[in-house]
Amino acid sequence: MGVVIKGTGSYLPEIILTNRDFEMMVDTSDEWITTRTGIKERRIAPRGMASSDLGVEAAKRACEDAGISPEDIEFIICATISPDKFFPSTACLIQSKLGLRDIPSFDFSAACSGFLYGLEIGKNFILNGEYRRGLVIASECMSRLTDYTDRSTCVLLGDGAGAVVIEKSDEEGIVGSYLSSDGSYEKLLHAPAGGSRLPASFDTVERRLHFMKMEGSALFKIAIQAMSNSVKKILEKYNLKKEDISLIVPHQANLRIIAGVARNLDIPIEKFYINIEKYGNMSAACVPVALDEAVKKGLVKKGDFLITVAFGGGLTWGANLIRWIK
Ligand code: UT7
Repeated sequence: MGVVIKGTGSYLPEIILTNRDFEMMVDTSDEWITTRTGIKERRIAPRGMASSDLGVEAAKRACEDAGISPEDIEFIICATISPDKFFPSTACLIQSKLGLRDIPSFDFSAACSGFLYGLEIGKNFILNGEYRRGLVIASECMSRLTDYTDRSTCVLLGDGAGAVVIEKSDEEGIVGSYLSSDGSYEKLLHAPAGGSRLPASFDTVERRLHFMKMEGSALFKIAIQAMSNSVKKILEKYNLKKEDISLIVPHQANLRIIAGVARNLDIPIEKFYINIEKYGNMSAACVPVALDEAVKKGLVKKGDFLITVAFGGGLTWGANLIRWIK
């Protein structure tokens, strides 16, 4: 028995923030942002819209693509570090918006690697024999964690959501994963306040501690290493050669990181699906949005092997091996 991806969907809010817009907000330039990151623009959810609103649209599109009705869904799991609220979970809010009842729904947090963790969790929910079909969603409103006075982070982030319907099958679609983490790097990428360590107070708000803080250049090197290593590990684990892989769908944090991974692995960059110029870093949503685009563009054929690879806060990182059966 196996688990396959039956449908993909994504949703990007309509508001676009361009590099030119940032030139009027902080001391930066289109030239700096483009050459250092590859980003030209990113999407921003309007005031009042939250991660469950983006996630439910991506989920509906994934169900439509799978040719099923939301009532056929038996569990919902959602990767997010920008939930609507601490609780209830974003997945529960999506469940309600889809009009579903009496199914398990929960969020989990693995930052930018969240969707990769989700595919493995969802796969095992099905393999355990309890469920036949579920939604794995990654939805992020990173703009809500962004300090728009900090030029070193604000130009990087955007909002969006991606989702897949996964289903029990005789064939193996989600072949397997390599997942890892190292919490000792906590402070390289984090939002210091708002949790139980440093609850919200006038002081935390005044010191802007609810926003994402990042040690960019330290992360840059670790990201290239961790993502390259993840691809190597998954190839080794399943006894495949890099030539066997049709497409790599990477986390979109920085075009130079993706190029570094391609160089390290000696895999042509054309094999990496890249859309960072349009959306920037949407944390967990990057990989499923890129996967949906690649599939809809016809870049993925039945029988192809794909690798997803990501890296993010935690630190967390990893890769999934997917055989496209659709
Ligand atoms: O999602 C997963 C986690 N995130 C990542 O993996 C991100 C990893 N890091 C990166 O992508 C890159 O490190 C950044 C894009 C964040 C920064 O690029 P960099 O080439 O590492 O630049 P830097 O931090 O070394 O800064 C170089 C210079 C600095 O000025 P000085 O000190 O050399 O005078 C920064 O102050 O660039 C300056 N700088 C900017 N200049 C114009 C930083 N941000 C900006 C900006 N516009 N937006």
